[in-house]
Amino acid sequence: MPNVVVIGAQWGDEGKGKVVDLLTQFADVVVRFQGGNNAGHTLVVGGEKTILHLIPAGILHPGKTCVIGNGVVIDPSVMVGEIDKLKAKGAFQDERQLVISLDAHVIMPWHKAIDLAREQALGDGKLGTTGRGIGPTYEDKVARRGIRIRDLVDEARLARRVAERLPSAREELRRLGAASDLDEGAIVRQYAELGRRLARYAADASLVLHQAIRGGRSLLFEGAQGTMLDVDHGTYPFVTSSNTVAGNAATGSGIGPTEIDTVIGISKAYSTRVGGGPYPTELKDDIGEKLRQIGHEFGATTGRPRRTGWFDALALRYAARVNGFDGLAITKLDVLTGFPEIKVAVAYRLRGKVVEEMPCDIEELGRCEPVYETLPGWTEKLDGVRAWGGLPQNARSYVERLAKLVGVKVMGVSVGADRGETILLDNPFKR
Ligand code: IMP
Repeated sequence: MPNVVVIGAQWGDEGKGKVVDLLTQFADVVVRFQGGNNAGHTLVVGGEKTILHLIPAGILHPGKTCVIGNGVVIDPSVMVGEIDKLKAKGAFQDERQLVISLDAHVIMPWHKAIDLAREQALGDGKLGTTGRGIGPTYEDKVARRGIRIRDLVDEARLARRVAERLPSAREELRRLGAASDLDEGAIVRQYAELGRRLARYAADASLVLHQAIRGGRSLLFEGAQGTMLDVDHGTYPFVTSSNTVAGNAATGSGIGPTEIDTVIGISKAYSTRVGGGPYPTELKDDIGEKLRQIGHEFGATTGRPRRTGWFDALALRYAARVNGFDGLAITKLDVLTGFPEIKVAVAYRLRGKVVEEMPCDIEELGRCEPVYETLPGWTEKLDGVRAWGGLPQNARSYVERLAKLVGVKVMGVSVGADRGETILLDNPFKR
């Protein structure tokens, strides 16, 4: 049975949650492998909105297992909050549906405090992080002083780890001019309690996935954020602190790369970005505002208005390269209805020269001016369209042009927020 990875091809918020939710019906296990509650999926199921930050949307499908891999950083209070919220809605009735890796790292109070204090200290040069403690938690992981789920579920061990780490965390907060009055006893008590709530889900996730694969079950890997936010391959340093690209689906979950059959990239029909960093196709005019309003481009996690712009074919080609996409899903095509013309960046102008590959250096990228191709728009509403042939000719030509520019075939088009508002052209689980 195929194992499929779904990756954001832009700066995050591409509508991965919806595509993953749609594909979940064909998979047995949904896996998160990086990021934390900096992500956020707004799902509309039967007209009702549900926002999840950590638990895969697959939890809404009875019988599906959701695995939080070792590569994820977990805020245990957010995790417990999501579990409670789901249960209150009558979802997630079977405890076996959720597996949390014992090796996943835990976001502690000092991580959040350091994240916020650092951003404040950076002033205008801030990264625009989500303030959830993501970066400092990954730093502690790499510095080999992190606290993992296996520590959280063992109070004595947790107390030791907190005692070891707290003095240097306090010192850093003092240096940053932030409040450093973290109460060791209170933290241990609060987190040990959260550990007790999560203990029943904690397991060797790599082994769980291995057994699922051996049992012929299909895995769906759900990327968080997007390719341009990858710590190695994104617009560094305006990135998140994990690898968001497809290769990390293996490392962040404990399977071998040979188990992955298909990698699907998700892109909006235009583009958005939250936080700082270069963004050549950004529209700071009325058109950008119109995209923001029609597309409801406000962060699911922070509520911040997203920066908006035209589709950038260079960014997409780059994403196709570093992820190895073999399919592309285009989301929010309906948002473009009513725009008389639609632009696509097909090259950049850099120091008087035309370049066709995205420069890796952000200072160079910041100097790039997009070279646009203009395509005709359409006026028909798309939300009722369920088949490729039902799309207006100009909408079809637009999607076909994007696919040609990126060099990857389109496997799906999304025309509205609801699960049903999708045209699936090629099902990666049925190949
Ligand atoms: P962090 O992940 O909170 O450290 O933030 C680093 C950068 O990644 C900031 O520019 C955030 O706005 C961005 N970011 C993090 N998570 C997401 C996401 O899920 N969607 C879009 N941008 C994100």
